[in-house]
Amino acid sequence: MTAPCKILVVFGTRPEAIKLFPVIAALKADPRFEPVVCVSAQHRQMLDQVLEIAGIVPDYDLDLMRPDQSLDALTAALLTELGKVMDEVQPDRVIVQGDTATAMAGALAAYYRKVPVGHVEAGLRSGNIYHPWPEEVNRKIIGQIADMHFAPTDVSAKALTDEQVDPARVHVTGNTVIDALHWVTARIAAEPHLAAGLAEIEARFAGKRIIGVTSHRRENFGGGLENIAEAVRQIAERPDVAVIFPVHLNPNVRAVMHGALGGRANVALIEPLDYPNFARLLAIAEVMLTDSGGVQEEAPALGKPVLVMRETTERPEGVTAGTAKLVGTDTQTIVTEMFNLLDDKAAYEAMARAHNPFGDGHSARRIVELLGNEIAQ
Ligand code: UD1
Ligand code: UDP
Repeated sequence: MTAPCKILVVFGTRPEAIKLFPVIAALKADPRFEPVVCVSAQHRQMLDQVLEIAGIVPDYDLDLMRPDQSLDALTAALLTELGKVMDEVQPDRVIVQGDTATAMAGALAAYYRKVPVGHVEAGLRSGNIYHPWPEEVNRKIIGQIADMHFAPTDVSAKALTDEQVDPARVHVTGNTVIDALHWVTARIAAEPHLAAGLAEIEARFAGKRIIGVTSHRRENFGGGLENIAEAVRQIAERPDVAVIFPVHLNPNVRAVMHGALGGRANVALIEPLDYPNFARLLAIAEVMLTDSGGVQEEAPALGKPVLVMRETTERPEGVTAGTAKLVGTDTQTIVTEMFNLLDDKAAYEAMARAHNPFGDGHSARRIVELLGNEIAQ
């Protein structure tokens, strides 16, 4: 009997954990594989929230998060420490997801050891290396290194083949975030208390129209975040509206948002929600206002209108489907677009339709099948 294929799954932030736990579960269920989980803990509390609900106990936890970490110090530490883990584990393959510093350094450390890399959520491109920054370059580097590209959609697959990636190595699998969303929805149905964390705020805002907000993009530091905060302040002045805003733990985000919005009656600035409670926020919000990547994928699946506070997006599928709209970071534009959605029923209903551009919730199974085909060759 041949030994199972040892797959080192490397990740470090909240969204990577959400998008990889379905892959880890599928690998664990398949005797052809021996998954080894290594978290960089580039995020700490926000990563741990996901590990806990998903029941993942990492084999390696590098605990690398530092307060207000710089990109260069973080990347240097990641490369060194992930390399050490790879030398110890001797994996047959490394899997990374998306475009974080951990994903990029994980791919690079694997390349330095000539270990093949599978890239989950491959081929997202905005065409602008500063939007999002530094993710556009991170994912291009991974795209150069990976030998298996798991593209969520035809759009992302085409972006890779346009960059001369061998089409035989590009597989359209859907996005595993939809697997995660289905999983958490089923968990909440079975155990409603898991998503009861907002009950007090929901009671306080009873009768109001809920706007869910998230914001964390590094390219918005130094101006953009202030504009966003001012837009939220103006939106929350409407007496019919209440804002629920789980604030990212990045100190740059917290300083701006708490400074501008703290203590306002119609704004609940709260700590990051765990995944079931964030799913609850997605369910009760009339509109989501966000610069997040993942939320742009979840909202269309739920038919929840989402205003995207970015100039460009690497996820045009939500915009094409009509559920997402790019509004940039200009205060007046954000407010105008939000009021339009709140006041124009036809405009709202045109956006509030469920679409599945990011997949059917079986992406992890497809990825593991493809990995299985690879070892059978
Ligand atoms: C990172 C990713 C970004 C991803 C985002 C998801 C990079 C360069 N950036 O950005 O692609 O979209 O995560 O949220 O990889 N912090 C905490 N606790 C936590 C998490 C963060 O205190 O659980 C604080 C720390 O002070 C940390 C700072 O936030 O230094 C920034 O974290 P970092 O991972 O470097 O960047 P993000 O902006 O979170
Ligand atoms: N999310 C969460 N709690 C929150 C905010 C977001 O669980 O308080 C989830 C959300 O459902 C999505 C992911 O985190 O799946 C998005 O993470 P983030 O916006 O931090 O990163 P991005 O997707 O922009 O890289």
